[in-house]
Order: sequence, then structure tokens, then C-alpha cells
Amino acid sequence: MTDPLHTDLLALAQEAARRAGELLRDGRPADLGVAATKSSPIDVVTEMDIAAEKLITGFLAERRPDDGFLGEEGAATEGSSGIRWVIDPLDGTVNYLYGLPTWAVSIAAEQDGETVVGVVTAPQRGETYSAVRGRGAHATGSWDGERELRCRPAPPLDQALVATGFNYVTEVRARQADIARHMVPLVRDIRRSGSAAVDLCDVAAGRLDGYYERGLHPWDLAAGDLIAREAGALTGGRPAERPSRELTVAGTPGVFEPLQRLLEDLGAWHD
Ligand code: IPD
Ligand code: CA
Ligand code: CA
Ligand code: CA
Repeated sequence: MTDPLHTDLLALAQEAARRAGELLRDGRPADLGVAATKSSPIDVVTEMDIAAEKLITGFLAERRPDDGFLGEEGAATEGSSGIRWVIDPLDGTVNYLYGLPTWAVSIAAEQDGETVVGVVTAPQRGETYSAVRGRGAHATGSWDGERELRCRPAPPLDQALVATGFNYVTEVRARQADIARHMVPLVRDIRRSGSAAVDLCDVAAGRLDGYYERGLHPWDLAAGDLIAREAGALTGGRPAERPSRELTVAGTPGVFEPLQRLLEDLGAWHD
């Protein structure tokens, strides 16, 4: 059944993402630098991450003052409406800093703790991906009109294109690189786009067969996880545990379980 509240939340998320995407694309200073660092010297934040989060939370709070917020750049309010917005104002900051095109704005709406709406816009790809729980996933941009997203029919794991990412914390990265080194000869190839939200949307769009990453935060994956699942992908962490903030795994049915098993065999669950 179509819930009119979800339709309204979708429209608001799409408009907030469009505005933030435009700000990031058109307002990027030529001399953009690092404003601060977080968990390690390579975990950077720019003035544009902060400006985009301000724009999104301002836009949404003006229209829905009773909602809660969780944003990477500090938004954290409870709200009283049962709706909470989970926001990554700029996913792929390092790409953005270097002028690489793969970065995105990610906005999800949770209702009583369950993600009901997810929107990811990638302005330099010219694409926006959206999903509403139970209503499928759709994209606009590189296609004529709106396209329904469906993940790809599964190849055997040794023919699967698998993306990953590396956490900013130095010790975690070293471990992740080790897992990837062992995985490379066992799959078609590995990709590292630099944006977890885009990786999940690429699984949804059939451009990747699978994706895994350790240590993502709720804002990295809230929208992309719903988009991938509504496109028919399976997502989760350890078998029978979903969602896991520890190890995120997504894949087309048929790749998801073999990928989970391979990660298990490679010891990816352990520190
Ligand atoms: C990062 C990106 C990257 C992933 C990191 C994330 P940020 O988010 O999604 O692909 O590997 O784990 O933290 O900091 O650019 O928003
Ligand atoms: Ca960041
Ligand atoms: Ca992120
Ligand atoms: Ca971010």
C-alpha cells in the first residue's frame, strides 16, 4: 500500500539532495582545502561537507520541525514525530577534494527506527537513485525518464565484480588491504570507488555484483542499503544479522551468500 507520508518524505529528500548536490557541484572553491581531520590525518572534512549538511538540515527542519536528525557533520537531535533523517551531506569527500567525479549526497528517512525512504544523488554522474520501502528503487539521469533499478543476474563468484572501501583508521585499513589482496584472484575484479553510497547504488543498478566494507557509519549506508534491497539485492553483515555496522555486505542474490562465505573464510569478521 502506498503511504502518503512516505511519498512526502521522498519528495523532501529528493529536493534537499538536489539542492545540496547543486551547491557542492557549482559552489566548490577552486582552492578547496581541508578544514579539519577526524579519526586519522586522512579522514578529512572540508567547508563544503559542513555547508551541505547545514543546507539539508535547514531545508528539512523548516518543513518538518518535529523530526530528528543524524548527520555526519554533527546533526544529532531526537525529534518527537517518529521520523529521523540520516544524512551524509558529501559521501566521497576525498574524491571531491581531488576533483574526482564519484561523490554523492545521501539522505534517508527512518520511521520508528526502520529506513522507509532513501535518496542518493551523484551530481557529476548526473544520476539520482531513490527508494521507498516496499515500492522498489528507481533512478533518473542517464536514462530516458525514470528507470526501475534491478540488480544483475548472479554470475559465479569467480566472475563477480566486487567493490570495497577502506576505513580511515590506519590499523583497520591494513587489515582490509590484506583481505582484498586475498580476494583479488578469487573474483573477476575489485573496484574502490571512494563512495559507499554510490557502491550500494551500483549494486542496485546492476553495475556491480557485490560490495563489502568494514566500519561504515549509519549515514554512509542508510539510503544506499534501502535502494539496494528494493532493487532485489541482499544486504547484511554476518549471516542472519542485518544491518551490521561492522561488516557491510551487499550482493545480487546468488553472489551475496558466496561472498559472505568467502569473507568468513578470509577472516574478515575478525580483528
Ligand atoms: C567514506 C566513503 C568511502 C568509504 C569510507 C567512508 P566520506 O565516506 O564512503 O567510500 O570507504 O569508509 O567513510 O567520509 O567520504 O563521507
Ligand atoms: Ca567523512
Ligand atoms: Ca560517507
Ligand atoms: Ca561524508
